[in-house]
Amino acid sequence: MQMPGDKSISHRAAMIAALAEGASRIRNFSNSADCKSTLSCLKELGVSIVREGGDLSIHGVGSDGFCSPRGPLDCGNSGTTMRLLAGILAGQDFESTLTGDESLRSRPMARIIEPLQMMGASMSSHDGRAPLVIRGRKPLQAISYELLVASAQLKACILLAGLNAEGRTEVVENEVTRDHTERMLREFGVQIESKTVEKEGKNVGSAAVTGPCTLQARDLSVPGDISSAAYFIAAAALLPGSSLQVRDVGVNPTRALFVKQLRALGLDIRISDVHEQSSEAVGVISVRGSDGQNSSAEFDRPMTIQGLIVAQLIDELPLLAVAGSQVEGGIEIRDAAELRVKESDRIATTAMNLRAMGAEVDELDDGLRVGGRARLRGAKIDPRGDHRIAMAFTVAGLLAEGETEVEGSECVAVSFPEFFDLLESVIEH
Ligand code: S3P
Repeated sequence: MQMPGDKSISHRAAMIAALAEGASRIRNFSNSADCKSTLSCLKELGVSIVREGGDLSIHGVGSDGFCSPRGPLDCGNSGTTMRLLAGILAGQDFESTLTGDESLRSRPMARIIEPLQMMGASMSSHDGRAPLVIRGRKPLQAISYELLVASAQLKACILLAGLNAEGRTEVVENEVTRDHTERMLREFGVQIESKTVEKEGKNVGSAAVTGPCTLQARDLSVPGDISSAAYFIAAAALLPGSSLQVRDVGVNPTRALFVKQLRALGLDIRISDVHEQSSEAVGVISVRGSDGQNSSAEFDRPMTIQGLIVAQLIDELPLLAVAGSQVEGGIEIRDAAELRVKESDRIATTAMNLRAMGAEVDELDDGLRVGGRARLRGAKIDPRGDHRIAMAFTVAGLLAEGETEVEGSECVAVSFPEFFDLLESVIEH
C-alpha cells in the first residue's frame, strides 16, 4: 500500500515554495485538514495556489512579496501552520493575526514569541497563547538561539525568520528533532549549515542560515507519511497472520525511530530499498504479524522510552503505549511532558482510553507506565477531538475483543482523511 503525502513535509514544501521566486510543483501533497489550513493562510497572503488531484502548483512571491491579509489567518487545529507561519510573518512589513480552533488557542506559543521578539518583531498574545498579533520587521536581526523545548516547529520558525534576517541565524538543539525544514530549504537552493556534534555524551545539533536569502522554485515529490503509516504498521505487526508492505514512504532517520522501537518489542518490521527523493529518504516498510508471544522474551521488565529519543517519537508515543500493552513487560514512557500540550493532553487521553479497554496504566507527570499482555476489551473511546488518539485507539480496537466505538472519529481528517477507507481496503474480513 501507499500513504498520502507526509504532513510535516507538505507544510514546509508549501510555505517554502511560497517564499521562492517562480512556480513550483509539489506532487503527492497531503490532503490533511492541517495542510489545507496552511494553503488557505498562504492564499490570504496573496499566494496563488492551484490544486490538481494530489499535485499542487504554487506561484512563489519571493521572501517579501506577501500581501497584508484582510483579516485574521485561521490555522485551524494546526500547530505547525501557526508556528512556522509566525516565523515568516515576523519578517514582513505589515501586521497580521494568527488564530485557530479552541485546541490550538490553548497551546503554548511563548516558545516562538521569545525568539521572534529577540529578532525584532513585535508580538502580542493572550498570555502566551493565540490569537497572536505579529507586527513584522524588515529586516529582522539574526540571532543564535538554544532551544529550551525540543521542538521541530520552534526550530523551523526561527530558521524561516532567519531567511529575512541580516546575518547568520543559528538554532542549537540539545535533542535531535525532525530535520525537514533544513532539507526543504536546501532543496530550494538555500545554503544551510547543519551538524550534529556530541557534547558531554549528548547529541547536540545546530542549523544555521545566513540571510537575506533568495529561494529558487522547484518541482518535488512528497514521500508517504510515516506517522500515518505507523498505525497500519503497528496493527499488522500485532495481528497474527498479517503481512503488509508500505511503499514510497518517508524513512528520514529523524522520523523512523518508532520502527526500531517496535522491533525492540520483538515485532517483525523491516525497512528496505531506501533511496533519496527531493532531499528526503524514501523506502519500503515490510511487516509480518505475530501476537507478540515471542516478543520481549528478553523483556520481563517494561521497555523504557526516555531521554534524548523522545522528541523523535513524539507523535507515535500514544501508539507505542497501545503496542506496549500487548507485549511481555509492557512499556514505560518518560520525559514526554510535551505530550500534555499537543492537540489534546495525550498522556491523559491515552491513559483514560487504555484503562477503558482494561489495560493497567499509571499516569505519570511526564509519561505513562502501561502493563504488558493486556487482554483489551472493546470500549467507547473518547479521543477528545485528537486525530492521533482516534487512530491509535482504532488500532487498539482491532486488537480488542468486542466492539470499539471511537467517538467523533472524523477528527482523523486533521492529518489523515483517508485513514478509515485505507484501513477497510487492507483488512480481510
Ligand atoms: C511537527 C513537529 C512536532 C509534531 C507535530 C509536527 C512538525 O511538534 O508533534 O505533529 O511538523 O514540525 P513539535 O516539534 O512541537 O514537538
